[in-house]
Amino acid sequence: MTGKHSAVASGAQKDIFDVFDSLKIPYDVFSQVEENPSLDTVERGAYFGLEKGADFIIGIGGGSPLDASKAISLLMGTKESTGKDLYNKDIPMKGLPLIAIPTTCGTGSEVTPYAILSLHEQKTKKGMSQRLFPNLAFLDPGYLESAPPSLIQYTAIDALGHLLESYINPHASLYSKMCTEYGMGLWAKGKERLLTGHFIKEDYEHFLAASSIAGMAISHTGTSLPHAMSYYLTYQKGVPHGKAVGTFLASYVKACPYKELIEKVESILGFSSTGEMKDFLERIIGRSSIPEEEGLACAKALLSNREKLANCPFQVTEEMAVSMYKESLDFIR
Ligand SMILES: [Fe+2]
Repeated sequence: MTGKHSAVASGAQKDIFDVFDSLKIPYDVFSQVEENPSLDTVERGAYFGLEKGADFIIGIGGGSPLDASKAISLLMGTKESTGKDLYNKDIPMKGLPLIAIPTTCGTGSEVTPYAILSLHEQKTKKGMSQRLFPNLAFLDPGYLESAPPSLIQYTAIDALGHLLESYINPHASLYSKMCTEYGMGLWAKGKERLLTGHFIKEDYEHFLAASSIAGMAISHTGTSLPHAMSYYLTYQKGVPHGKAVGTFLASYVKACPYKELIEKVESILGFSSTGEMKDFLERIIGRSSIPEEEGLACAKALLSNREKLANCPFQVTEEMAVSMYKESLDFIR
């Protein structure tokens, strides 16, 4: 299961074919997973796999093919299931064996049980209710080297979002904090080169490891407000996921009242203040704008997003929600 480009460009797909050929294992490729994959696509992918009689699945790519692979694995492994069942956790589902090979350094999808799909009927992106961990994750930083610098920049910022949203989270545990603190340290090693996009070999290893470790952390805690706030920008405005998440990170950290936590984050990441973090992120992703009434409607919607509010360790008032949006986006009147 792949998208259109990175599985081939990275060389990962060829490596897998070479192994299959040497072991005489027949295979087929479904390469139609689009960015922010839809329910329709995963249903088609599952139909393709069933028709071919596949025994197991390998997902290669960024978050989209990896997330889609999980959904496809569940649909293939559960007789007569439909896409809707993925959003009903009361239906017992079982997946086919799944191997995940990332070609970006953001989602950590290779180690999480989550899959975010586009629900065109609801005009948004939403995580499926079913959970499925890949059986195996294979990480080779060499697969990142063919990616355009902006993809590394955006996906590394997504990984930063997972680290921060897992760290500033009421479900954070000693275990998840061990992951996030170590992951932030790895992330910080390549931080300055995120500004220029001129990466060195070690950066790919550090960002890829940081993104997987961040994935382990969010498997325990879930993501928090910046991810919830990002989905509108991605679905309605086409803003790439990492860029959309990065838009809201500094204001989330700033809104957090637990000073010791913030000081720890800033010292590991090498920022002297949340203002410096905000400037750093804006130098990479710029600033998005949104009509004022849409921004205010988003703030209202955030206050009714119970699932994500439960992953935020402080109380969010309407005033705070509005100011987080206003700090992060330019409101157009
Ligand atoms: Fe993310």
